[in-house]
Amino acid sequence: MERTVDRRRLRELRDREVERFVGEHPRSGELFERGKSSLLAGVPMPWMTEWAGPYPVFVEEAEGARFTDVDGRTYVDFCLGDTGGMTGHAPKAAVQAIAEQAAKGITLMLPTEDSIWVGEELARRFGLPYWQFCLTATDANRFAIRLARAITGRPKILVFNYCYHGSVDETIISIEDGVPGPRPGNIGPPVDPVVTTRVVEFNDVPALEEALAHEDVACVLAEPALTNIGIVLPDPGYHDALRDLTRRHGTYLVIDETHCICAGPGGATRAWGLEPDFLTIGKPLASGVPAACYGMSGGVAERAQAFMDSLPTTDVGGIGGTLSGNALSLAAMRATLEHVLTDEAFDRMIELGKLWAEGVKAAITKHGLPWEVQRLGCRAEYWFSRTPPRTGGEAAAADDHELAQLTHLYALNRGILLTPFHNNALMSPATTAENVDLHSRVFEEMCAELVAT
Ligand SMILES: Cc1ncc(COP(=O)(O)O)c(C=O)c1O
Repeated sequence: MERTVDRRRLRELRDREVERFVGEHPRSGELFERGKSSLLAGVPMPWMTEWAGPYPVFVEEAEGARFTDVDGRTYVDFCLGDTGGMTGHAPKAAVQAIAEQAAKGITLMLPTEDSIWVGEELARRFGLPYWQFCLTATDANRFAIRLARAITGRPKILVFNYCYHGSVDETIISIEDGVPGPRPGNIGPPVDPVVTTRVVEFNDVPALEEALAHEDVACVLAEPALTNIGIVLPDPGYHDALRDLTRRHGTYLVIDETHCICAGPGGATRAWGLEPDFLTIGKPLASGVPAACYGMSGGVAERAQAFMDSLPTTDVGGIGGTLSGNALSLAAMRATLEHVLTDEAFDRMIELGKLWAEGVKAAITKHGLPWEVQRLGCRAEYWFSRTPPRTGGEAAAADDHELAQLTHLYALNRGILLTPFHNNALMSPATTAENVDLHSRVFEEMCAELVAT
């Protein structure tokens, strides 16, 4: 029998869980209050106010797939710094390389041999021959977009509704009531993003075709599957259509693997045989040390180099970052790719992703809830909808903030951290089957309480 969630019951549970959270986190509460006198809203980053619960837990230390907060409580971390900690926290091989390189010099504006090792490894994993480094995936996307614009001479880019590619001005756009404009929450856009950007729904081939037919789009910036509004997988054949249409209209395809690296050691690009012109990735590449990169095909590299050669100088050209490509990031990237995010690690992580999704599915089925679970490699997520959404618009409409706040807080109070903003869990090389079983038990308990009359 299908059950609906009783909102009154939901709020009762939420109030109980908030009370428990406050009772169990006095020290985090004190730090949050103290932080208000020097930090905007008491936290170092605006979105840190958006965790479930009245304030975030402050961290004491983290190792592997676990962390301890300042109140001495430990958690299994399925958020993993929203992929920045996908390696598990403080993996030994990376920590050793980081310590050794820190003692030998951190940033010089000169190359180290590690950069070549990493470039060769990225080429092996993703199939693109040429690489450049920066510090964040946001910058990798910004720089790929700049190059695409420079060498095509076209003004616009195209993104998918409810995508997220970092704080890249051109991408913070959405379609509301059929009309494209600044995405709700866009803080101080320099221009209305419709000036710079075309936006269509993921999986909508006719809309993509219509948008590209203007032939003013330098590049499509795409995650292989949307991951930032829940996991929205491509329909069968969608990537073939995307590649055909971009080629036909002289538009570059930039694939952002920052989250879809969860599909395997070469991301969805290798797992699904994609053929991007550019590839961007950041977050977990250096075990948490800031590091990101963008790769390009031989043809793009040739045109990009010719363009650079035509400039009087490139040092103020908008592709930069004084600390980009620094020795520490590169040493950490090398150790991470060589010893932490290995092919064998992905095999184990993906099996755990399956186990997590099975646990959630079993609880949903047992309690007759009209929900669904979706998985991409070692990332999995549940939806408060009967079927997984096919577009970003559908995904945004399926969000249930109040319910998500309860599921997150319920998990947190029982020693489990989920990724905020959606119901996402990620497996690291350090995650264990026992960690996943704990989530399955707690999730089932929550479902039972939610439907109890
Ligand atoms: C797909 C994708 N690309 C890029 C970014 C930006 O990463 P960063 O904030 O580290 O620059 C994100 C962040 O969530 C992301 O999910």
